Amino acid sequence: MNVLVVGGGAREHAICDAIARSEQATLYSVMNNLNPGIEKLAVEYLLEKETQIDHIISYATKKNIDIALIGPEAPLEAGIADELTKNGINVCAPLKNAARIETDKEWMRNLLTKYKIPGQLHHKSFTNSSEAKEFIEELNAQVAIKPIGLTGGKGVHVAGDHFNGTDEAMAYVTEVIQNKIGGAAKVLIEEKAVGEEFTLQAFTDGSHLAPLPAVQDHKRLLPDDKGPNTGGMGSYSCANGLLPFLTQHEYDEGVSILQKIVSALAKERCRYIGPIYGQFILTANGVKIIEVNARFGDPEAMNVLPLLQTDFMEVCSAMLDITLSKKDIQMEKKSTVCKYVVPEGYGIKSMVGETIDVNENAIRQEGAMLFYASVTKKNNHIMTGSSRSLAVVGITDELAEAEKICEQALTYIKGDHLFIRHDIGTKKLLEKRVRHMKEIRGRK
Ligand code: GLY
Repeated sequence: MNVLVVGGGAREHAICDAIARSEQATLYSVMNNLNPGIEKLAVEYLLEKETQIDHIISYATKKNIDIALIGPEAPLEAGIADELTKNGINVCAPLKNAARIETDKEWMRNLLTKYKIPGQLHHKSFTNSSEAKEFIEELNAQVAIKPIGLTGGKGVHVAGDHFNGTDEAMAYVTEVIQNKIGGAAKVLIEEKAVGEEFTLQAFTDGSHLAPLPAVQDHKRLLPDDKGPNTGGMGSYSCANGLLPFLTQHEYDEGVSILQKIVSALAKERCRYIGPIYGQFILTANGVKIIEVNARFGDPEAMNVLPLLQTDFMEVCSAMLDITLSKKDIQMEKKSTVCKYVVPEGYGIKSMVGETIDVNENAIRQEGAMLFYASVTKKNNHIMTGSSRSLAVVGITDELAEAEKICEQALTYIKGDHLFIRHDIGTKKLLEKRVRHMKEIRGRK
């Protein structure tokens, strides 16, 4: 079976790794940058922008691709799944109309309202700044301001984190509307949800949902959740599939919400096939939806895909054949800690072109996994790009031990201008999360 993966980041490296473990698959790749990990796993690759649909279609056709998987959201918005399907290639990712669940935040909120799906946040969208101001004042400026479309995870501004008070909120509202940030002269304003965020990824065939272990990502650049938002600096998951602050009941609530969203999409004639990602927040009033993504999370894919024991291509075939409910998906019951290595200045102005020395064998011997991201290779040296460089994942029974393995493996990555959030997965940070959630529950 010829399988194509579109995307050249660490998430896509993890997807390729899961595919390469399947005996039935021959892997091809289309990536923007030469990812050294994907280069090793694929029989062949095309270096191409992931939204260059025409070139990708002709490459996929020439290589007789049977199944394609799409890592990032931008090609989904550009209609890659629709074009591949038209050309007779199966795609384990949503068509453009179903991918609106991520690419159009206003449409997502309207869908939740129309189908009375629990977990909704109070919200309104505006094209007019003065009307937006009234709504912000109504909510005492305790709001999240979101561009409607894609912004690479960096467009959401939240009260207390990015601005304080109505005037500062309005400055960003005006910027979003005037500069059409996210592709439209429109802004979505939501009540600010207070609590702990968690990610719930799942496979779906548009009817059945097969949920994966919960993961917590860390979006802020600096230790102790300070600094600007990033694509995600690292993440962890626990062997029991829950998180230290998340009960089974709350996890099940998230699963039920995601299942209702998938069913609503089918009713809207937007059947969703592929991995789906719910970004939830646990609040004093239960589980709420922050956003829904039409793909695996990055870094969260690296926490779950290495644990998949069932042949990934069998899971993909079951999604495509709409037989997922009959598939028994087995996951290793292990804890994981993933930490990204990024170039110094990432999130502000990255130091690009800096050499990174990676001792792959030593990392493997520590029991950790290595996933390359935005790097290039020059004269056999790995160099930083402008985004996250690579990720290391410690995997074992206990979370504390997984964190130690990850840290030990990170000592085999050397470079003068690299940065890592070492606090991810540490006891201190986990205890802070648990305390935070206890306080919030106590406020009810
Ligand atoms: N972890 C954030 C994202 O994948 O969107």
